[in-house]
Amino acid sequence: MRAVYASEIDPDNPLDGLTVGERPEPQAPDGWTTVNVKAASLNHHDLWSLRGVGLPRERLPMILGCDAGGLDEDGNEVVVHSVISDDAWRDDETLDPRRSILSERYQGTFADRVAVPRRNVLPKPAELSFEEAACLPTAWLTEYRMLFTRGQLAPGSTVLVQGSGGGVATAVIVLGAAAGIRVWATGRTEERRAQAKALGADEVFESGARLPERVDAVMETIGEATWSHSVKSLKPGGKIIVSGATTGDAPSAELSRVFFLQLSVIGSTMGTRDELGRLIQFCVDRGVRPVIQATHALADARRGFEALLGGEVFGKIVFTT
Ligand SMILES: NC(=O)c1ccc[n+]([C@@H]2O[C@H](COP(=O)([O-])OP(=O)(O)OC[C@H]3O[C@@H](n4cnc5c(N)ncnc54)[C@H](OP(=O)(O)O)[C@@H]3O)[C@@H](O)[C@H]2O)c1
Repeated sequence: MRAVYASEIDPDNPLDGLTVGERPEPQAPDGWTTVNVKAASLNHHDLWSLRGVGLPRERLPMILGCDAGGLDEDGNEVVVHSVISDDAWRDDETLDPRRSILSERYQGTFADRVAVPRRNVLPKPAELSFEEAACLPTAWLTEYRMLFTRGQLAPGSTVLVQGSGGGVATAVIVLGAAAGIRVWATGRTEERRAQAKALGADEVFESGARLPERVDAVMETIGEATWSHSVKSLKPGGKIIVSGATTGDAPSAELSRVFFLQLSVIGSTMGTRDELGRLIQFCVDRGVRPVIQATHALADARRGFEALLGGEVFGKIVFTT
């Protein structure tokens, strides 16, 4: 079958290890099923994999891709939940110490077909296209958990999101606005800030700008480049919800501010099957949809990777089979 996979690891030139070609059909063990992929979305995770973060060389070749919308073996329209927990695990899947997400230990979704545990398949509502559904299981699910489960943010709260155009950042703007949260966003360019405003951000600021008032919470995925600003932007008792560190994970911790202002630093990763179900329902009921910048045929996947690596993406890139 056709697939987009990591054939080599290169931390400095990640696209050198990206191959578009043929891979063997997936074999579904007992309790697993095969999904015919119609659409899959690109995440920063796929670039990390090509750099060898979370993907050691001995697991290559590895089909990339965490998210998918497609058809199950009976032809039903489905969404794939990417978090694979141990068979015996009955708690929150993201807390299973042995959990992984598709394309780390098990082959990913950038292919004609992908094998997943049966419990990782959810019904896709007709209101969402395959392309839209394929954007939800990683970036959007992560953001849903950051805002509502880990962040416990109430309507009327003010939230700063670092970055405007990222897969996660655009999800904060759309989901937060739909939930009655005041969303402020930083953006590195005038164009990005204007796009964020058009998407529903209440206010937009240059990266690192002093805010007119301090905020209840910050959604942080950028790391070193923005951490200090995130800490300084919080009101006493405020919280940073962090799920990524694109620019590095060793910023100054700003410990004095953290304890003196009694700030909370809350980690968040992916989301559960139940949270994905609620996110899907939220999208249907509120009429919100993921922001898709471009859709490419799987065979042209490299174009999407190049745009993501170049920082040119506002929202999500989707591949279709
Ligand atoms: N823990 C989890 O479960 C989880 C899930 C999803 C994502 N993540 C992680 O979260 C991060 C974001 O993911 P994503 O899919 O949203 O990636 P993405 O689409 O590549 O995000 C790009 C965003 O980062 C911002 N940015 C990049 N470099 C910056 C810099 N030097 N200064 C300021 N802003 C900068 C961009 O800001 P502009 O808009 O201004 O260009 C843009 O908003 C990644 O590291 C990813 O691995 C983690």
